Amino acid sequence: MILSTLQSSLTPPIIAHRGASAYAPENTLAAFLKAKQLGFNWVEFDVLMTHTGDAIVFHDHDLARTTNGAGMVESYSYDYLKTLDAGSWFDPLFSDQSIPLLKDVLHLLHGQHLAANLEIKSGLKKEQIAVQRVFEVLQENAMQLPSPLLISSFSREVLRTARKISSTALLGLLFNEWQEDWNHFAEEVQCISIHANQALLTQAKAAEIKEKGYLLLSHTVNDTHRAKELLSWGVDAVFSNCPAVICDAFCHSR
Ligand code: G3P
Ligand code: MG
Repeated sequence: MILSTLQSSLTPPIIAHRGASAYAPENTLAAFLKAKQLGFNWVEFDVLMTHTGDAIVFHDHDLARTTNGAGMVESYSYDYLKTLDAGSWFDPLFSDQSIPLLKDVLHLLHGQHLAANLEIKSGLKKEQIAVQRVFEVLQENAMQLPSPLLISSFSREVLRTARKISSTALLGLLFNEWQEDWNHFAEEVQCISIHANQALLTQAKAAEIKEKGYLLLSHTVNDTHRAKELLSWGVDAVFSNCPAVICDAFCHSR
């Protein structure tokens, strides 16, 4: 039932990765709004913790690539991080973009009727605290959450902690390298989805995952032919930085 609801919500079967990150700076409010404007229904974003325990939406542990700051995200307070320019590295037009709090992204997505995949990044051996904080934010903002909301991580500790905190959260196991025991672990924490790096997937591996009854998502796919191939193998949706390019090739009903 939940699986079929997720599958039918993934139309078109493309998730805007870090927002529509080929068209606006990744993991900013502008990138999520761009995904909506382009006609997509799902976005993915990454969550990290600040030094002072605020959950923020940001990908790298280091500030240098996507802000005008330097050093490790985890060593600063949000009071400082919110002053950084998180848009000009992409285009000066986005110089007003800052690093958002998780709470602010959740509210935006809820208001825009966007579904979301919240990826919890494991950070500096503080997985359990990070997961607790994410769930506190979810609880504090329970009336303004995106729906559906799928929570994923590469970290097994993150997923185990998430399941201990919530028996109902929709959890997804992410991997960049094939894991022989993926199904054993996914059953242990009752994952609903598998998020596999596209480079790992073959038709046989996709079939194996689908036969076990999981939603199958694949990252990060910016090539139209590869997207078509993956979807033809039963992959339920692909994460893409350029969802419009992928969709224009074969989404005729949009
Ligand atoms: O969740 C899919 C994808 O975002 C995982 O890799 O490094 O882009 O967060 P990364
Ligand atoms: Mg991610």
